[in-house]
Amino acid sequence: MRLFLLQKVTTLVAITKIDSVDGSNSIDESLFALIAQDIQERGYSIRPTALPEGLANTLYNHQQALEVDKFNDAGIGRGGEYLKNEFVRTDAISWITNDSDACCDWLNWTGNLQTFLNRRLFLGLFSFESHFAHYGPGDYYKRHYDAFRGESNRVLSVVVYFNTNWAPNDGGELVLYQNEHDKEGTKVVPLLGTIVTFLSEEFPHEVLAAKRDRYSIAGWFRVNTSVSDRVDPPL
Ligand code: OGA
Ligand code: MN
Repeated sequence: MRLFLLQKVTTLVAITKIDSVDGSNSIDESLFALIAQDIQERGYSIRPTALPEGLANTLYNHQQALEVDKFNDAGIGRGGEYLKNEFVRTDAISWITNDSDACCDWLNWTGNLQTFLNRRLFLGLFSFESHFAHYGPGDYYKRHYDAFRGESNRVLSVVVYFNTNWAPNDGGELVLYQNEHDKEGTKVVPLLGTIVTFLSEEFPHEVLAAKRDRYSIAGWFRVNTSVSDRVDPPL
């Protein structure tokens, strides 16, 4: 899938170079262009201090203010869809809707990223879902894929972090593996403003146990797999 996608992308990207995108937010668009290039070249992107500072702070403050009862144990999932994860993760999550200025700003930003990536890479991203995640001390998420071939319409995963002063022995790194055989992986420190994006079916990854509170958003861009008897995304 990755090879196929990247071949397709490489062919089409030459055409899109002449396609100028509306320049209303030039800072973000240069970031989006870097993310697109990373994905085109290697299927994933790790960009420290990349999330616009105002947005990062707004989201951090919003997550801190969320009532504890807005968070659910992860792994229960929506409609039982992600029951697979129940035994492998211990974080708490809160799904994002457009019910606050902070979340609207986030969905606006991810919407712009989606539009940009669709224009640049022809990914056909159709919808987006995301949640805040809180890992308390000792929490982890074992090695997993975000999507399984033929089973899911999640195409691109995105994770952003809201943690300052993360020390080397605080744990809680994201480890992104190149493929199912990779044992070493690439460690990502969950620092405020870091944006990680990767093709959901291609990269196994895990969250190492954190020794302190760890705050983030994880999200997924999906393609539309509607067929006549099924409405997508799920109601
Ligand atoms: C996830 C996930 C990674 C992270 O929620 O599926 O892999 O670094 N999160 O929080
Ligand atoms: Mn994941």
